Amino acid sequence: MGSSSLIRQAGIFVVRPNKIFVKSYGCQMNVYDSGRMADAMVKSGYAETKDCAEADLIVLNTCHIREKATEKIYSEVGRLKALRKKNPDLKIAVAGCVAQAEGTEIQRRQPAVDIVVGPQAYHRLPDLVAKAGSGTSVADTDFPLRSKFSRLPRNRLPRGQVTAFLTIQEGCDKFCTFCVVPYTRGAEDSRPAAEVVEEANLLVERGARDITLLGQNVNSYNGVGPDGGKRSLADLIVELSKIEALKRIRFTTSHPRDMSQDLIDAFVECDKLMPYLHLPVQSGSDRILRAMNRRHTARQYVDLIRRIRGRRPDIVISGDFIVAFPGETEEDFLQTIELVEEVSYGRSYSFKYSPRPGTPAAALPQIDGDVASERLARLQRLLRKQQQECQRNFVGRTVSVLFERKGRKPGQLVGKSEHLHAVHAQATADCLGQIRKVEIVRSEANSLSGKLVSVREPVGGSPRRR
Ligand code: SAH
Ligand code: SF4
Ligand code: F3S
Repeated sequence: MGSSSLIRQAGIFVVRPNKIFVKSYGCQMNVYDSGRMADAMVKSGYAETKDCAEADLIVLNTCHIREKATEKIYSEVGRLKALRKKNPDLKIAVAGCVAQAEGTEIQRRQPAVDIVVGPQAYHRLPDLVAKAGSGTSVADTDFPLRSKFSRLPRNRLPRGQVTAFLTIQEGCDKFCTFCVVPYTRGAEDSRPAAEVVEEANLLVERGARDITLLGQNVNSYNGVGPDGGKRSLADLIVELSKIEALKRIRFTTSHPRDMSQDLIDAFVECDKLMPYLHLPVQSGSDRILRAMNRRHTARQYVDLIRRIRGRRPDIVISGDFIVAFPGETEEDFLQTIELVEEVSYGRSYSFKYSPRPGTPAAALPQIDGDVASERLARLQRLLRKQQQECQRNFVGRTVSVLFERKGRKPGQLVGKSEHLHAVHAQATADCLGQIRKVEIVRSEANSLSGKLVSVREPVGGSPRRR
């Protein structure tokens, strides 16, 4: 009943709070949303659990970006419903972008789902949970006019977590022809600057020292300021950097069209803005970029990277790529390889094109699957090599690491460098949450390892850049 259950424990009945288990798929925004859904349920009396077997409510926060991501959800629900044998009152909710795209179709295909809730309606999760159950299923995939953020409880970042995500902008007006995001997340909308600053202060009070600002097109942020005027992402970063205990600021994901000069300058002018930029390009062929509706050429992108590196030479660039977009010829693909060689990425995410229902490119003639796999393998070989080169460049150098958690080996801690590399080092637990100097001695497959050179945190946390 309500937010608690009567359970039998060692022969006696006890009341315990109901438990919520949330699992995130897809992008960082879903990770942020999952935290906020848990916050909303905790406010209405639930406790959070990391073990789905003891949950009374399981929320799958889903991703619709590629077909595989969507299909995964149906098999996952099929597996989870077996938990009802032990807990017949278990409720299963599907949230996120699959919920938005497929709505009540989900419950038709998988009747074990009790609740379907879209990304703009999840502040209503407690109500939906209260209504669901006893055989009724409920769905809410509205796009409410008023922002959900103002109706959510305060962000309860778990204590001890030093990195945090903070959504500042949602939705997308770009309509790339392959992408579902404009349909699942709706039109672009920026949170007011003061609301963002307030949430950042709260996160910092709870221990966050490294905040990543999130948006589907985060660099098109234009939130309203306290004086009624608009604020750019660069303005917001400057404002946030005034929070003394906040040491590092990052943002993702940016669109090349919205990389304004003030944002590029912020990489030099704002000490707390970290030297790492995720700037997807998708393809190196102008013909394909046009068909994708990316609204820039390969040359414009390469020139932009050159300008950014001109201001901040040590910046690490990462990118997203799609191979075998409809109509992509070997020649187009080779232009992508050329672009990658010219830019040199520190990290990357590359995918085979996946036709998504309702998007314009899905209606075009598709490329053979073997051709796509072969192109992806070739591209990934090059990108992996570049990642290794980027990592090896740091061997022998001393970097600032914010330690986040214990490593797998005894006595080892793991943290992030300013350039977002995972760094392992032998260090005592009192270094957790602290920024320390580490001399890099080795580059591993996806991380660096090194030895601590500073025992105490430098005054002011993250030291000024060279
Ligand atoms: N807003 C970001 C991208 C968000 S989606 C941007 O504009 O770059 C994350 C990545 O998923 C995209 O950059 C793209 O590389 C990939 N992606 C999106 N739709 C896809 C599809 N239909 N098939 C394959 N990859 C896709
Ligand atoms: Fe999708 Fe393009 Fe919008 Fe990125 S900019 S979310 S790829 S439509
Ligand atoms: Fe996936 Fe939705 Fe993010 S489709 S990538 S979870 S915005």
